[in-house]
Amino acid sequence: MAYEFILTNIDAGILTITLNREKQLNALNAQLIQEIGEALENVRNDKSVKGIILTGSGKKAFAAGADIKEFSAFGLEEGKNLAVSGGNIFNKIEQFNKPVIAAVNGFALGGGCELTMACHFRIASENAKFGQPEVNLGLIPGYAGTQRLIQLIGKGKAMELLMTGDMIDANEAHQLGLVNHVVPQETLLEKCTSILNKIGKKGPLAIEKVIDSVNAYFDKGRNGFEAEIDNFAFLFETKDFKEGTTAFMEKRKADFKGE
Ligand code: CAA
Repeated sequence: MAYEFILTNIDAGILTITLNREKQLNALNAQLIQEIGEALENVRNDKSVKGIILTGSGKKAFAAGADIKEFSAFGLEEGKNLAVSGGNIFNKIEQFNKPVIAAVNGFALGGGCELTMACHFRIASENAKFGQPEVNLGLIPGYAGTQRLIQLIGKGKAMELLMTGDMIDANEAHQLGLVNHVVPQETLLEKCTSILNKIGKKGPLAIEKVIDSVNAYFDKGRNGFEAEIDNFAFLFETKDFKEGTTAFMEKRKADFKGE
């Protein structure tokens, strides 16, 4: 499918979505965010796709935020619509049934930082920079940055970054737990691919249930402990479970089908 603001490529079971507005530092306009949602929906039920990498085009930015030019004349209702419609896609990423990794190849600011935080985890290149500079515009994050930053780095540091608008480099982001690994830019996609290849050998339904169970902890409407019990029990009825346990006893590698 052709998109205007993203590139998609499926190779060896991995969908790479590249934000493709390099001259605007991949600023997130409303259509670009909707396109990410469509690209994900297109592979939701495709068992040959084991994982997704989200990255930015060029060497400078993952995404420098929501598109300031697009919303500069907005009022209350439009502001709310922007946050709700974009936020729905970010929630879709967070709850997606396959692993979604952010390959952060440069600036991840404002909505760009929020987009990385909606992914299941983040790998950064050495030149990556993270921040929530919305206060410089007289704004606050609108794609759940105030909520997910606390979850990832804790309240005190989140308060400081959100109030100062300061940028942090990849190493500080690593120390804070915002990113899992920092690698040279040339090996960023390779690192993400290698992690997804490892995950891709596990039972796909088990991976889906890991994502759901971990997310349940943060969902005030759910009891995470109960969600884990239900997901654990569900997996006993799957062919993947039979295959995994049989393969263990037969001392061979499991061949999971996601059934
Ligand atoms: N929206 C729209 N355009 C943007 C943009 C954004 N968030 N960030 C960068 N651009 C555009 C610039 O306007 C510029 O375009 P022109 O050449 O047409 O003028 C181009 O990208 C290159 O940017 P710079 O010339 O500014 O590059 P730089 O290297 O000097 O600076 C930067 C890089 C520090 C990242 C700087 O671009 C910057 O501060 N960007 C804005 C960051 C920001 O405030 N992000 C938060 C947005 S609000 C938000 O995200 C709300 C939300 O939570 C939903």
